Amino acid sequence: MIGLDEKAVRDILDGHRNDPQQIIAALLDIQEASGTSHVERRWAALTAGALNVPDSRVHEVLSFYSMFSEKPRGRHVAEVCQSSPCLFSGGRELMGWLREALGIEEGETTPDGEVTLEVSGCCGRCAGSPALMVGEEAYTVGSEEDARTLAASFREKNPGMRRPLLCEKWRSSWRAPTVLTPWTSAGTFPEGDTRGSGRPWEWPPGKS
Ligand code: FES
Repeated sequence: MIGLDEKAVRDILDGHRNDPQQIIAALLDIQEASGTSHVERRWAALTAGALNVPDSRVHEVLSFYSMFSEKPRGRHVAEVCQSSPCLFSGGRELMGWLREALGIEEGETTPDGEVTLEVSGCCGRCAGSPALMVGEEAYTVGSEEDARTLAASFREKNPGMRRPLLCEKWRSSWRAPTVLTPWTSAGTFPEGDTRGSGRPWEWPPGKS
């Protein structure tokens, strides 16, 4: 969905039962539905009213957590980890490849409004460095070709296609997984995935 109206925002807040404990989840949903990866000031004020919390509380959340933005960004936000473990295992190169493939610098958005390229701190995927987050998906991109493939996939109608697309690359790659699983999710490894075809996975492993 591109753009939001008051009813859509109220529906999202109703979906979270207007519960102040759900403030982060509700704001994430509002941000995702915006189509511009940000929370407009008027929707922040609406959230404060519906959740019965002060405006300052909503602003505090939006400004504290780096995944939020109060300014418009691209439909996809690619956050490239530049903390030390990633930086020294290809993070600098990965940022360069993406800058080249997208034609933008860090902090900029592509002219078509599809992608914003950002630097991030450690996102907890050091084992798969150099790591890159796009929304809730984490990736390890270990070659310039994979970076170009990922950059091109941002323009696909169905961004979910990115995972099988890059898994194909990984199978013939010498590196650790080209694509990591979403860290809060569970599912089944794709056929041919050397981590175990058809086997259920979860992240973090052995959590339950
Ligand atoms: S240092 Fe990059 S994910 Fe932890």
